[in-house]
Parts: sequence; structure tokens; C-alpha cells
Amino acid sequence: MRIHACQCQEDGISIEFSDKKTAEFSLFWLRDHSTDAKSLNPSTLQRDLDTFNMPVPKLAQQQLLNDGAVLQIHWQNDATLTEFTADFLHAMAYPCVPEPGYKLWGNELQDRVPDFDFNQISQSDAAFLPVIDAMENFGIVTFSNVPTDMSATKALLEKIGYIRESVFGGLWDFSNNQAHSDSAYTSVGIGLHTDGTYTIDPPGLQLLHCLAFEGEGAFNQFVDGFKVAQLIKEQEPQAYQTLTRIKVPAHYIEPGIQLRGEHPVVREDKNGHFEQICFNNFDRSPFKLTAEDEKAFYHAYGKYQQLVNDPALQIQFQLQPGKAVWFDNWRTLHARTAFSGFRHLAGGYTNREDYISKKLTLRGQTPWQE
Ligand SMILES: [Fe+2]
Repeated sequence: MRIHACQCQEDGISIEFSDKKTAEFSLFWLRDHSTDAKSLNPSTLQRDLDTFNMPVPKLAQQQLLNDGAVLQIHWQNDATLTEFTADFLHAMAYPCVPEPGYKLWGNELQDRVPDFDFNQISQSDAAFLPVIDAMENFGIVTFSNVPTDMSATKALLEKIGYIRESVFGGLWDFSNNQAHSDSAYTSVGIGLHTDGTYTIDPPGLQLLHCLAFEGEGAFNQFVDGFKVAQLIKEQEPQAYQTLTRIKVPAHYIEPGIQLRGEHPVVREDKNGHFEQICFNNFDRSPFKLTAEDEKAFYHAYGKYQQLVNDPALQIQFQLQPGKAVWFDNWRTLHARTAFSGFRHLAGGYTNREDYISKKLTLRGQTPWQE
């Protein structure tokens, strides 16, 4: 990108880019976003400038450098020399709307879930990048040849960042021993849901690692919650709107603990792409809507549940010792069929923000790049 021309105005600069697009930047904005080392920490990109105590910005001179690749500004009564790349200014004025990173799936993903060898992805951060890419695409990956001890569970979780503490602890070690009030600690079937609808910030990613299993059943089932949302959006726009609008309260209770959260079933990001699914009919709290909303809610929520239970949208597999599944709890609903015998799993959560952080750093993206 280049700047073709820039024109000084009373309290701003008008810019014409090489793609003929134009933009106005106020002097206050330009000074506030100055990238000189005194205004912006070069390594953390934190603002050191005291925005609301700086002198009123007045232009002394502006010029284009490097054939319009850089705009340089000299300020009056201010020794700061501010330089902006044309790329940065263009990105600010015309932020690109990226294509969504997700690829919607139904049961055609059965036997095609991206699988990674534990030893291979453990070698370096770069070796882990394909896992991140697959997670962004499908919201689910599996790992093979994972040592059947919890140090491997911990190592996998820490590929993203620190392990999230919750009422279930940090690193879980759970078998059908009913250590918590949650049905995960039993051998009964658990229907499709996302975790933590009762928290303010539902867990980002969840890892389940099989340490031992001797028995029958225990199929882990998964559904692409974004795919379900897309189907409803296409088939029943009104119901889709209800799912994005009405916040559904949820709770978790055990002695000494009472957690409460409230989320719409579907949340979109600023670009209109799917960002988060929160769906758990088991943990839903009592709430009373207007008669009109109540009707709309039961219909839309019921429609979501109906599609979630459609085998054409489900995949399932049994976790065997040495296998782990890692899924996006903001997207992929999970369930487990009942089982007999003994099953010992380890696992844990990582926060959404740490997953995004790992994705951005491994890809070398700056804060203003999507
Ligand atoms: Fe769960």
C-alpha cells in the first residue's frame, strides 16, 4: 500500500491511498497513535503517551517518505516525530473482514478428525501450529500415542498456556467415582452440551485424555455447534435471531458452591461470524420470559436441541488408553454414552484468550491484524 497524496486540513489530514480510497485522520488521533518510542513501548506496544494531558496537537509539517509507504509528521511545540506506514493507516480506515477460520461439518468428519502424534507435536512450537490450524478449522482434534500418565495431559494443556482452575480443579483426574456433583463423574450417559454455561467466561478449550478403560460403551460424541447455528439461520431466521438475542441463565451447585452464568445460545463476532455457542439444557436455570418470547425461546431452543440430536450431524468414537481429544468448548458440543466397567480420564480446560494468544504468536500476527 502507498499514500498517493495527503492534504493538511484544519484539525486533521486527508489521505488518498494508492487504491484510490480516501480517509480522514484527526490530529488528535494521529498524535494519540504515534509510534515513536516515547509514545508507544516498542516491545509491548503499550501506550506510554498520556493522551489526555498531551499538548493540543498542531501540525508543523508532514511529508511522504519511501514513495508514499510512510507518512512522517512533525508537530509544533512537540519534539515527537511520528511515522505511520501506509499499510497501518489503510488497515485502520478499512479493516479487512477476514473469511471465518471455521469449516462447518456434520458426520462426514467421522473417521476424519485431524489426528496428531503426541511425540511429533511436542517437539517445538512450530510443530504445534498445524494443531492450532486444525482446531480453528474444525473445533476438534485428537492426539495419538499419548503416554498414559497425567504428566502428558499437563504437557498437552500447557502447549496453549496455563491450565484453567475451576471448581473441578486445574488438571482433572476423573473416573466414575462421583468425586463431584457433575454427571461427568458417573457412568451414566451425558447428553450433548457445552461446558460452563453457568460461568461468566465459559472455558475455551477442553482436553480429555484416556488413561485407562476396561468396559463397554463410553462413546464420546461431538457436534459442530456452528453448523447447527448455520442450519437454523438458513431454515428459520426468526428462530436464529431468538438464539442470538435471549440470554439463557444457568447454574452449578454443590456444597459451598453456587455458580451462575447467562449467555445467548449463539453469539456472533463483530464480523458476523459465529463466535460462541452456549448450550446446556441440563444446567439451565428457571427464568420467565414474556409470553411471546417464551414461545419463541422454546421453539428456537428446541430446534437447536433437535438438530444437535440428529445423527447426521454427530460424530462419535471411544477414547482408548493413549488417545486424547481436544475440542473448542465455544463451538463443539460434546456428550458421552453410558458405560460399564472402569474408565479413567485426565483432562483440563484452557482459557479462550490463551488459545488466541498462542494462535497469534505462532502466526506472528500483530494486535491489529485479524
Ligand atoms: Fe461436559
